This record gives sequence, C-alpha cells and structure tokens, in this order.
Amino acid sequence: MNLGYTIRASQVMVRHPVQGVERVRGRIDRRRDLRDLAGLGTSVSDFYGAVADWAPRLHALLDLPWPCPAVADFERVWDGIVADLSSAGVRVGIRSYGGWNDGDKAFAEAIWCIILHRRPGKVVETGVAHGLTTRVVLEALERNGCGHLWSIDLPAVDSALHSEIGMAIPQHRRHRWTYVPGTARQRLPALLDKLTGIDVFIHDSLHTGRNQMFELESAWSAMRDGAVAVVDDIDHSLAFRTFVDRGEQRRWLAARHVTGPGLAVESGLWGLVVKDREALAPSRRRPRPGRAAVSDIRDNQHYRALRPLMSTGTARDTRHVRIELAVTREIARAVRLRAPSGARILQIQAHHGQETLLLRDQLDRPDRPVIYDQEDARDAEARAGTQFEQVDFESAAFPASGGVFDVVVWNRNLVTLKNAVPALREARRVLRPGGLLVLAVPNLAALHNRVLLLAGRQPTTLHIDNGDHVRGFASGSMTRFLERDLEFRVVQITGVGIAPVTGAVLPRPFRGIGHTVVWVLQKPGGTTPGRSQPATAGLHSAGV
Ligand SMILES: C[S@@+](CC[C@H](N)C(=O)[O-])C[C@H]1O[C@@H](n2cnc3c(N)ncnc32)[C@H](O)[C@@H]1O
Ligand SMILES: [Zn+2]
Repeated sequence: MNLGYTIRASQVMVRHPVQGVERVRGRIDRRRDLRDLAGLGTSVSDFYGAVADWAPRLHALLDLPWPCPAVADFERVWDGIVADLSSAGVRVGIRSYGGWNDGDKAFAEAIWCIILHRRPGKVVETGVAHGLTTRVVLEALERNGCGHLWSIDLPAVDSALHSEIGMAIPQHRRHRWTYVPGTARQRLPALLDKLTGIDVFIHDSLHTGRNQMFELESAWSAMRDGAVAVVDDIDHSLAFRTFVDRGEQRRWLAARHVTGPGLAVESGLWGLVVKDREALAPSRRRPRPGRAAVSDIRDNQHYRALRPLMSTGTARDTRHVRIELAVTREIARAVRLRAPSGARILQIQAHHGQETLLLRDQLDRPDRPVIYDQEDARDAEARAGTQFEQVDFESAAFPASGGVFDVVVWNRNLVTLKNAVPALREARRVLRPGGLLVLAVPNLAALHNRVLLLAGRQPTTLHIDNGDHVRGFASGSMTRFLERDLEFRVVQITGVGIAPVTGAVLPRPFRGIGHTVVWVLQKPGGTTPGRSQPATAGLHSAGV
C-alpha cells in the first residue's frame, strides 16, 4: 500500500466518517458471509440453482418471446462501451476500479432486455464505478425515448479514482441520469420515498449479505407491480436466496456470469426477481402447479390436515405435535429448496400420506410420489395422489431397483426398526447418484432425554412397554455414521424443538440437543439436485 494512497484514503475517511463506518462494516460482514457460505454444505451455485442459459429463461419469466431481436443490438452497444473505455485508457474487467469489477456482460445484457421490454419510467441502481451498467440502462432508456435513472454510488476510498466514476457515460447520454453520491444505506430510503414507486431496481454496490438484503428489502417496498430487481454477485452471500424465499410470489432466477469469477464459485452469479403482478391481482392469476412458498406450507391443505391427525388433545400431546409439525415444515422446506423439478419422491413410512402430498406440492411438475409402508394406511386422497408398495422394513429389500429416486424422505419412524441400518442402506441404494435423503429422527441426545437420564428415568426416545421406539440415535454419532459408514455427504443438519418448551428450529450451536434432528444427505456421484437441471429449473416462484 503506497503512502499516497494511504493519505488520500485517510482524507476521504475523515471527511466522510459515516461512509467510513460502512466501509469497515462491509469488511466484517464479508467474513460472516464467507462463513455462511462455507457452512452451506453444497456449492453456492447449486444452492441457487444457477443456470447458464439464462436468456430464454429470463424472457419466459417476463412472458416475452424468445429468441429476442434486442440481443443483437446489445452486442453492438456493449462493444461500443468497451471500445470507448479502452480508448480512454481504462482496462475493462476484473478489479479495474479500485478492488471493484466492471459490470458483467450477461448481467448487462439482462438489464438491456429488461429496460427495452419493460419501458420503465423510474430506474434505481446502486454501484456505478466506471458505469458500464449505468451506460447500458441509459442507452436503453434513450432508445425507449422515456424514463430516468438514479444511481447511488459510494465513491472509491481512493480519491485518485474519482475522476473515473461514470467514465463510460458520454455527455449526450447524461440527460436522463442523476448521480447520487453516498452509501446505499444513507441514500436509498430517502430516494425511494421521493420517487414513490419504481419499475426496475439494480443492485451492483456492496455485495455483503447485510447490504444486499437491506437494498432488496428497501427497493421491494417501492417496486410497483411487475417491477423487476436485478442483483449482481448473489454468490457472495445467502441474502438473495433468503430474500426470494421470504415472501410470496417472488418469481426469480439465478444465472452465471460470463466474464467474471465468483467469490466462492468458478463464475460469479447474478439474480433477478419479479414482483409478481398476478399475485396482486388474483383474478388474473394463472394456475401455477409449481412449488408453493414455504410461507404457503402452513396454508397447504395437506399440512393443515396433519394437526388433527397427529393430536389426541392432551397438553403434552399438543406440545409434541408442535415439534412434529415443525419437523414436517423443515422437511418440506428442504424438498422445496433442493429437489429438482419433476423429482421422483419416495416417502418411507408415510402412514395416511398427507405429508407425502404436502411434499409433492413443493415441487415443480412433480412425478407421482411413491410410499413404502408396512401396511397401506393411506386415506382416500393419498390413494389417489400416490403410488404404494408394501415393504417389510425389518427383513426385505426395497422393491425398487437401484438409483431410481431423486429424493427419499424418512420422517421419525426409523426408531421403530430393530434392523434400522439395513433399511437405511436400502434407502441409499434406491436413490440416484446425487439424490437426497431427508431423514428426521428423534434425538437420543436431546436435552430432555439427558435430563431424564440424569434423573434415572427412561428417555422418551426409547420406549419400554408403552410404545414402539426400539432404537435410539444420538445426533452426533448418527451424523458420523451417516457420513462414514453410509457414505452420505451431509448437506444440512437442523435441530428442531426443545421438549417441552419450544417447537422452534434451533440455532446451529444447539442443534445437537434438539428434540428431533433433520439431516439432508446427498448420495455422492451424479449431479447435485439443484434446480438447474430439468426443463423449467432456474425459474422459480417462491417464498419462505
Ligand atoms: C461492482 S462496482 C459497480 C460496477 C458498475 N455497476 C459497472 O457496471 O461497471 C461497485 C460500486 O459500488 C460502490 N459501493 C461500494 N459500497 C457501496 C455502498 N455501501 N453503497 C453504494 N455504493 C457502494 C463502489 O465504490 C463501486 O463504485
Ligand atoms: Zn429481450
């Protein structure tokens, strides 16, 4: 770091202390994001179900025809911008403005199409640097003959770079542009208040999860029906996915960069989310058999059917049902987030089958789910919606040939089998390589069981004569067994509930004492079941 830089940066920090705090905070947040990404248990690209063929999918998402004639024009515009910058002596690409990258070409092309097709009146972006995306927006607005762009941008900490801000934007393209210096946190809320309704939002500023979430939440409340948000570098954190899963009717896709590496993946990722106008006008809503939002899980008719089926009405029972329902929601959430569209689901020991129907409802274009059970206890609805095979889990092999299911779900009843391990091996055998086992098992090492044992009492997970729980599995040992002996890759472990206090999903450090543990396990080999493989994967409608 040279002395000139240190002096210039210090001056900027002293002159703008609030911005300085945000810059420092960004570095701290980045570390947390990296920890979250490392703990994901899957690649961030799979987590997002990122696609390479984003262009037709984007047009499908916006109900636009494909191929799109605007794409050829974009090539010319992009080449022109790169040529302009090069002739001004600026190297276009990675780390070209301080530590920041210039806009990615695919990201810019998506913005080009969105602006041309949507013909927005008000566009807001964060992060300008040399201004590649800014120029693309302004070129498209010019072509539309309407609209205005507001760009919030924190000038580089090195004031020597300030003359480079917006270099890609020639004077004759600036009449539709307002540059707003400062951090998004300082400037975005007031700007959005002033604009009262925006049509397109573009995030390309500080890519920490905290800042991305702040910008998305702020912009979302100002976005009109049908408005689009485009977010760069979503692979830097889990924020974009958390955001799109959080609310209802957020149709989205995640795509790969073409020009830049990512923070934790080979190529960077960007995302797009549409504020679904159909969701706000139910009369115009297309029937969408696709996956339900996780907030919809509680509203799902099959989920609602579970409570009365589980409960006998005593207070102890009510507390227990709360935990069991939370476990069901975790399983449904895992299936929704991670199963590919068109997935073949097998549920083991599904009883009446309502939970299987709930899981089916989480999938795009679901195949008919299969249930294996000792006897057919399905209700009429489940009989109509599922396929059944009778299986003696204690002694017989599973009927399916190897590698046929994308997802196997086994909730809670493993504790009823003396020969649990051969049955688990069978569950693994029928999974395709890359397929997922979602396994929920009451935890022998749960806090309440530890307390009971300390008091010399029987843990509830193991029955003497009043129930059918014959096996006990302690969370940590079971995880090791699943990994080492059964050779699963652990994608996620969740602890649910502390009996009798709460049915909540526990923070990570406490998952080992949860009442029930939910494992999401992947059979090695093949492709990871993200949502990127089958036909409609990559287009999502969601909400957690
Ligand atoms: C990746 S660059 C933008 C690239 C640009 N969109 C393009 O296409 O060339 C990120 C920009 O955001 C600015 N920035 C950093 N932190 C910010 C914050 N908290 N709020 C707003 N802008 C920020 C950086 O100074 C930099 O100019
Ligand atoms: Zn287009």
